[in-house]
Amino acid sequence: MIIALDGPAASGKGTLARQLAEHFGLKHLDTGLTYRAVAAALLARGLPLGDEKLAISVAQNLDLGALDRNQLSAHEIGEAASRIAVLSGLREELVRLQRAFAESDEGAVLDGRDIGTVVCPNATAKLFVTAAPEARAKRRTDELQSKGIPAVFDEILEDLKRRDTRDSTRKDSPLLPASDAHLLDTTEMDIETAFKAAVDIVTRAAAA
Ligand code: DC
Repeated sequence: MIIALDGPAASGKGTLARQLAEHFGLKHLDTGLTYRAVAAALLARGLPLGDEKLAISVAQNLDLGALDRNQLSAHEIGEAASRIAVLSGLREELVRLQRAFAESDEGAVLDGRDIGTVVCPNATAKLFVTAAPEARAKRRTDELQSKGIPAVFDEILEDLKRRDTRDSTRKDSPLLPASDAHLLDTTEMDIETAFKAAVDIVTRAAAA
């Protein structure tokens, strides 16, 4: 079984992906971390973000088992990840790694932007998780503040909108629901309600 979850930043897809993986006994890969890890390595060495060859060589040495969201959560890293995500050669390399992860015997949940459309077009179940920008910005603001990190709602909202536009309008693999994806709008849902709805969608898709 392969479950594909796509959606914009702070839509709740990461939390849902983790919960679905646990519920169905599958491995989980947050593919955003693969872009973030490459971006973080380039930033740490002061290397340019637009050099595709360099980015590819970093990607070739990625260890998927060592990706840690806590270490890669910084705002600058997310912004840089969104910028390098337009490089087609880099995407090819990361998609190769992500597919190898998805196709292992145990089955997997992958979340990102292009899982249902490009990485796993034959996934058992595809979910496109969305929420209104204001709801996403509120969640992100609360999350940061609860960790003691200063966060201003209006700035976060502007940031999310800018990232949505860049991720949705890039030429290669834009953020887009697959034609056979189930839409899950979590604007009015708490995480438990969203999780129940997601389990229901996956169970029905697996039985079909
Ligand atoms: O989900 P995230 O915020 O950690 O992702 C960071 C950036 O990586 C996102 O803005 C776009 C890019 N990304 C992508 O292009 N394709 C994916 N499958 C996952 C992330």
